[in-house]
Amino acid sequence: MTHARITIDRDFQVADVPHRLFGSFVEHMGRCVYTGIFEPGHPTADERGFRADVLELVREMGPTVVRYPGGNFVSGYRWEDGVGPVDERPVRIDGAWHTIETNAFGLHEFVDWARAADVEVMEAINLGTRGVEEARALVEYANHPGGTHWSDLRRRNGAEDPFGIRLWCLGNELDGPWQIGHKTAHEYGRLAQEAAKAMKLVDPSIELVAVGSSNRQMPTFGSWEHTVLTHAYDEVDYISMHAYYQEHDGDVRSFLAEAVDMDEFIDGVVATIDAVKAAGGHRKQVDISFDEWNVWYQTGLDTDDQPHRVQESWRTHPRLIEDAYSVTDAVVVGTFLHSLLRHGDRVRIANQAQLVNVIAPIRSEEGGPAWRQASFWPFARMSRMARGRILRLAVSSSTAPTKRYGDVDEVDAVATWDEERGRLALFLANRSLEDDADVAIDLHGLAARALLSAEVLAVPEGGDRHSANTLDAPDRVGLRSLERVGIEDGAVRLTLPPLSWSAVEVEVTRS
Ligand code: AHR
Repeated sequence: MTHARITIDRDFQVADVPHRLFGSFVEHMGRCVYTGIFEPGHPTADERGFRADVLELVREMGPTVVRYPGGNFVSGYRWEDGVGPVDERPVRIDGAWHTIETNAFGLHEFVDWARAADVEVMEAINLGTRGVEEARALVEYANHPGGTHWSDLRRRNGAEDPFGIRLWCLGNELDGPWQIGHKTAHEYGRLAQEAAKAMKLVDPSIELVAVGSSNRQMPTFGSWEHTVLTHAYDEVDYISMHAYYQEHDGDVRSFLAEAVDMDEFIDGVVATIDAVKAAGGHRKQVDISFDEWNVWYQTGLDTDDQPHRVQESWRTHPRLIEDAYSVTDAVVVGTFLHSLLRHGDRVRIANQAQLVNVIAPIRSEEGGPAWRQASFWPFARMSRMARGRILRLAVSSSTAPTKRYGDVDEVDAVATWDEERGRLALFLANRSLEDDADVAIDLHGLAARALLSAEVLAVPEGGDRHSANTLDAPDRVGLRSLERVGIEDGAVRLTLPPLSWSAVEVEVTRS
């Protein structure tokens, strides 16, 4: 049996829950846009071509902000191609994903879709093949009220009112040799600084994200962030982080512990930001936008079913990296959300990549149904229940050895306290593959009054850790009621099944 004791003190707080921590990402890649969120002619599509079945699942999942239009795609993209009368828009080659881009969906369509989904737009600009001029033109087009060249073009294209996009990414993964327009840190740092300056001259209210490392294994990780921020600290508000994880060679214990790597990765970027801040004598604080994270099975790409890049023919919306997520993946996704929340004082934006079909929590078939992957559930519960203040927990858990990370806690947990609504939300993972975990949660300064809800995602009846939702069995993995949970003498006691992720809500008062 696995044991854990968790101590929660009302006064040990990290930060407010950042509204933008539960973000997602829509890239013009594979079937995320076309036949994902947008499919004119689909039985559920509205007059704009937005799939209502997908929209309903997006609303249920609850992302607060959605990054668009890429990703690698954006580094070769001309935003002007995606505005104006649809039948006059050019068809282009997208080199990043070896795809034909029809431009039937562009900025206006995305802004309309975001309004329908009730999410904030996070717009990425192309700093791969383009520069300062195109960046400031796009801000003028999107945010200037009218009476100028670009803002009047927006009005002629049907949007009288400005879009009011506040959050902008200054390019994507430009440290990566695979990126169209790959740059050195110096080249990018200067370009980001000048683009940021010009964009803020058009609209000073915008917030800007500089490109950080594409992952922690990049040879330039650390020095890239340092150089870029040394140039652009004053002009930007966030630096990005990206990380994708997968199970390697059946080493499931290390895979279940990958949030340890995420924690360390974040701590490293925070340290680098603060070193530049100190050395430059800056007063303002730059924070982190973790704008791509997820489980992604990158080995095994380039198969016939899951082509990655070079294929023989150029196609529109090919199936790309449509990973099916298992119970194991969902538990890992839950722990990634824990890691992001634990760091909510510095990680103020985070986007799970991507939203539909492409390594996504939501799947859809062309002309067919849409369904939730197993990984949908931790996101959906946390985006709805994590409210108020993030609490700093003291967790004392039994540990298990892992090849990559040494001894790792079997129980991983985070909590938020919403004083106004009198609610404590607890999110817990049991990483043990074999054992139940008995967890005792002692509260200081808070008294537990009643259990409001307790749900768990675990291996389904008759299934195993690889069980996943599919077109034929879309509800195989989901949440069920967590049975063994109760309040004893003001403390919360629960038993978590092996390989599980749970969300528990307790009514609390100050004590
Ligand atoms: O999300 C898929 C891809 O992963 C994105 O286009 C890119 O930014 C990252 O490498």
